[in-house]
Amino acid sequence: MTRRLFVTTALPYANGPFHIGHIMEYIQADTWVRLQRLRGHEVRFVCADDTHGAPIMIAAEKAGQTPQQFVAAVAATRKPMLDGFHIAFDHWHSTDAPENHALARSIYLALREAGLIESRAIEQFFDPAKGMFLADRFVKGECPKCGAKDQYGDNCEACGAVYQPTELKNPYSALSGATPVLRTSEHFFFRLSDPRCVEFLEAWTQDGRLQPEVANKVREWFARDESGRATLGDWDISREAPYFGIEIPDAPGKYFYVWLDAPVGYLASLQALLQSLGIDFEAYLADPALEQVHFIGKDIVTFHTLFWPAMLKFSGRKVPDFVYVHGHLTVSGEKMSKSRGTGISPARWLELGLDAEWLRYYICAKLNARVEDLDFNPEDFVARVNSDLVGKYVNIASRAAGFVGKRFGGRLSADVGVEGRALLDGLRAHAEPVFQLFDSREYGKALREVMLLADRVNEYVDRVKPWELARQPGMDAALHDACTVCLEAFRVLTIYLKPVLPALAAKVEAFLQVPPLQWADAQRSMGAHTVGAWQHLMQRVDPARVEALFEPPAAPAVPAAPLPGGEAIADEIAIGDFAKIDLRIARIVAAEAVEGSTKLLRLTLDVGEGRHRTVFSGIAAHYKPEQLAGRLTVVVANLAPRKMKFGVSEGMVLAASHADEKAEPGVYVLEPWAGAQPGQRVR
Ligand code: 2FM
Ligand code: ZN
Repeated sequence: MTRRLFVTTALPYANGPFHIGHIMEYIQADTWVRLQRLRGHEVRFVCADDTHGAPIMIAAEKAGQTPQQFVAAVAATRKPMLDGFHIAFDHWHSTDAPENHALARSIYLALREAGLIESRAIEQFFDPAKGMFLADRFVKGECPKCGAKDQYGDNCEACGAVYQPTELKNPYSALSGATPVLRTSEHFFFRLSDPRCVEFLEAWTQDGRLQPEVANKVREWFARDESGRATLGDWDISREAPYFGIEIPDAPGKYFYVWLDAPVGYLASLQALLQSLGIDFEAYLADPALEQVHFIGKDIVTFHTLFWPAMLKFSGRKVPDFVYVHGHLTVSGEKMSKSRGTGISPARWLELGLDAEWLRYYICAKLNARVEDLDFNPEDFVARVNSDLVGKYVNIASRAAGFVGKRFGGRLSADVGVEGRALLDGLRAHAEPVFQLFDSREYGKALREVMLLADRVNEYVDRVKPWELARQPGMDAALHDACTVCLEAFRVLTIYLKPVLPALAAKVEAFLQVPPLQWADAQRSMGAHTVGAWQHLMQRVDPARVEALFEPPAAPAVPAAPLPGGEAIADEIAIGDFAKIDLRIARIVAAEAVEGSTKLLRLTLDVGEGRHRTVFSGIAAHYKPEQLAGRLTVVVANLAPRKMKFGVSEGMVLAASHADEKAEPGVYVLEPWAGAQPGQRVR
């Protein structure tokens, strides 16, 4: 039966270009969509920019632009990136488009009609200088628990405490620096605590459609308190002007919170697509056979498994069928930041001319159906792509194509011998299991299967040795047979890899002179078909080019200014080199002179590890012990312990100095700004 699928990926904030985490999600979804299409299913695959909210409004203001100009500039960066990574959305829209305004309002009105919208007075910090209410992240102050300075309004990065912005000591606005005042305003709430919502969501989240770990996590929302009420709370869906967003009907000056209209953008994008195709939007959604599938990251599960299905359900719309959650991408084990991304910029990947399909293959080879983080490891990447794609897969064709062209005019033999036929039948028999693995998002397992099949083909080639047959007189038929088996096998493997490697598959189709391959074509053979001239299909990855990915783009040359101390800047390093040095904030618990040394002080340090370290530091000529005790400094925490005459030194304290320590202006131990805590990493 043909499936009808409406598939989306999370809408990226329109506050900057894609980072590698976005591209990873798109690759996962795009691969799945391509797979379904190869099976003849009908898929509409859409996304859009998530344009609204206070952060984008403020970023636009800083850039001296209107929010509309700002998000338009970001939108213009999308297409080259998507094309570059072969991500084939049918449509890319914007949550600020008219369809989204209209849909968000109509969904809200339906929820209000259903008695699920309530207004309540809320006390909130207001920035009198800016004339606006402050979201939690725009209020800063001292942590009510540990006193650390410059903490955000919702949690303390120093001690981890969670609190309300109103609990901060000496609060200030992160926008203007002004002291915020408390003000009351009317907010709208979506009454998720209504028994109808609780009952629906509990069933919807627990009926097996979600990944087990996701269903377990959201189950917490349905735990009951003593009075038998679920802990699921109402959701504040309104924000006060000024706000870049969609104005709420019958509430001038009030706007939908960005997370209300963001997922509506899925529908708006679909609507715009269908409109361009002349298909009726509501009729399309009304088809009971339609399956709605959202690919998202683990950080936005609550929005997609509680708020969004409830919004749809109680506005009388179709609810999602599946929400496929993936983990985050780390690079060499380092977590990436949502705003800064990671060391790998997708734009740089393309600029450097790295093959997009190397990345597609590597990411898919590491993906599974669980909510696990995925690590991009540069050495592993190079090894995997070179050994699998080039060494195993492409190699099969390159071992045979030359002979077919030179010796047989490009013509394949009509039939192959018993051994070849058995090999090909074995490959064909894997069409269903490989499909099932991809379909259930076990991409890594699927690709391992395919590479095992490639191994079988290479073993066959090693056995029959076409290069020897080519030298022996009278072995033409055997050579023809062997090469035909290779190209037939190569074609079957190409089908299995096509969801992941669409551009490479297109090159193979051109070489083989066959129409676009479908999944079912794996069961057929080409017969006495004539293939085209062999063309180079894929390069090996050169590790040096991957290295370049982690280096900042060459800065324009600036004439070197004379440096204090006359010491030239050291050779350039990659960010990964810096990341190897683990710098930590340390409290100098005690400092004492070392008997028998005029240079050294013995420092006892607290690096937040629940124990103390001893570090010998050559600063005795510059500091008295009593000047140091109690102060904070920075220590190299992962330096190998060094045995010195007076004991073992477990690290190194950082200090600024001239190359010649006796020269002016002397030696200065580093000290962090107030608020830093022992154990915090310096990066
Ligand atoms: O977390 C994010 O990046 C959001 N912009 C995702 C929105 S997904 C959907 F709901 F629009
Ligand atoms: Zn704190």
